Amino acid sequence: MTAWEELTISVIGTGYLGATHAACMAELGHRVIAVDVDEDKIAALSEGRLPFYEPGLSELVAKHVGSGALRFTTSFREVAPATIHFLCVGTPQRPRGDGADLSHLDSAVRSLAPFVTEKSLVVGKSTVPVGTADQVRARLRTLTGRPVEVAWNPEFLREGHAVADTVRPDRIVIGSVSAEADEAVRRCYGRITSENPDLPVVSTNYANAELVKTAANAFLATKLSFINVVADMCEAAGGDVAVVAEALGHDPRIGGQFLRAGLGFGGGCLPKDLRAFRDTAARLDVVAGADLLRQVDHVNNERRRHVVDLATEHCGGSVLGVRVAVLGAAFKPGSDDVRDSPALNVAASLHLRGAQVTVHDPQALSNARKEFPALDYAENLTDALTGASLALVLTEWEDYRGLDPAAVGALVERRVVLDARNALDRVRWTAAGWTVHTVGRSQQPHARRPHPPSPRGVGADQLGEPVGVG
Ligand code: UGA
Repeated sequence: MTAWEELTISVIGTGYLGATHAACMAELGHRVIAVDVDEDKIAALSEGRLPFYEPGLSELVAKHVGSGALRFTTSFREVAPATIHFLCVGTPQRPRGDGADLSHLDSAVRSLAPFVTEKSLVVGKSTVPVGTADQVRARLRTLTGRPVEVAWNPEFLREGHAVADTVRPDRIVIGSVSAEADEAVRRCYGRITSENPDLPVVSTNYANAELVKTAANAFLATKLSFINVVADMCEAAGGDVAVVAEALGHDPRIGGQFLRAGLGFGGGCLPKDLRAFRDTAARLDVVAGADLLRQVDHVNNERRRHVVDLATEHCGGSVLGVRVAVLGAAFKPGSDDVRDSPALNVAASLHLRGAQVTVHDPQALSNARKEFPALDYAENLTDALTGASLALVLTEWEDYRGLDPAAVGALVERRVVLDARNALDRVRWTAAGWTVHTVGRSQQPHARRPHPPSPRGVGADQLGEPVGVG
């Protein structure tokens, strides 16, 4: 068993990954200095305020800023006492092309170099293309003139579950070229592994550690596009993808997670990592792999067009001038993130076809407004739904699952709903006089449940009684 000891660590980059990692490392008993070039972000975090929505994280940040275990700064100089430096900067898709943009990583390495000593270790957590760790190591050695050691330790946390996924991960992967580096990373997570001795810790080389992260996201994306292809087949053949997915998921080799068909995947990770992985496959001349991954991306993008087409069809062939209520803007429930959000993409497409679109979301409205200022937004469901001729459920928030169809029915012009996430109880909504259109299911409702929330997702305590309209 790995011994646990309190370490002084630094975290470079305080976005989603960095802020979560910093707070969780403090929770694990380390002293943490987190640095970022964004002064506004650092000012907010220093007061215990999060610049994004993540359940449980602001409490953790406030707790450890309060205790003094966690400090945020814009000055790289302050990271000097740390023995482990975690690189947590973003690696978005390049503006041109499918590959990852490593410019933030480059500048983080440059800013960190003057404060790295022989005794400290640099650990990359950012999602990077294979070959990056080697380059970072070589660059640090050139910049410092010292034999700096580097490890790569990818992160698998999900938005909405970031804290739990960090303090209770399902595996730890450490890529390194030295036993000392591997041991130092293990010591850092010693508290997690001593509490869970069965936790798999995979010690490996750089290439494997880099590949496993993008491969994981590309695999999840492939699973989703696959079930969405099955959804198309169900629609065409009179099947029900929810039933097929449930039966598939009972096979432990397949597993029941990531089989919720509907509008497809979005967010700041799966789409860009899928493309970066495709880019890597092409670079490595793995042509069939690159083709497969391109098709996964294509199937996913078609989901959005399919839902826009269905909405148009349900409005008699044109949405021009039709009042449409869009429920959901975030790329998934439990998040205020609208990066590459399928919901907002559909809302914007309907707007461009001439519909009068009003968007509601419990958390993501301010981010959505910044992204698509031309759309109309409603702070509450009553305002969004009043007078609508078509309602669309595009993000499966519990707030929408729990709606009372009779109360909602009293607000709308026409009781027609397109449930693109298969979140609603079709039988109940149909009984309340609604025409319910779904995705990947025959249009005849029969007494069965909608897609349950993901098992690792929303807790049973959130599945409350039907609620009225807020
Ligand atoms: C994803 C991965 O799940 C994490 O393991 C990874 O660490 C993270 O990216 C990252 O690279 O940082 P996240 O982006 O938070 O996490 O979102 P997911 O929970 O993976 O959902 C992605 C998309 O798939 C969402 O749009 C969601 O609505 C969609 N989805 C998910 C479905 O359409 N059906 C499902 O059954 C599950």
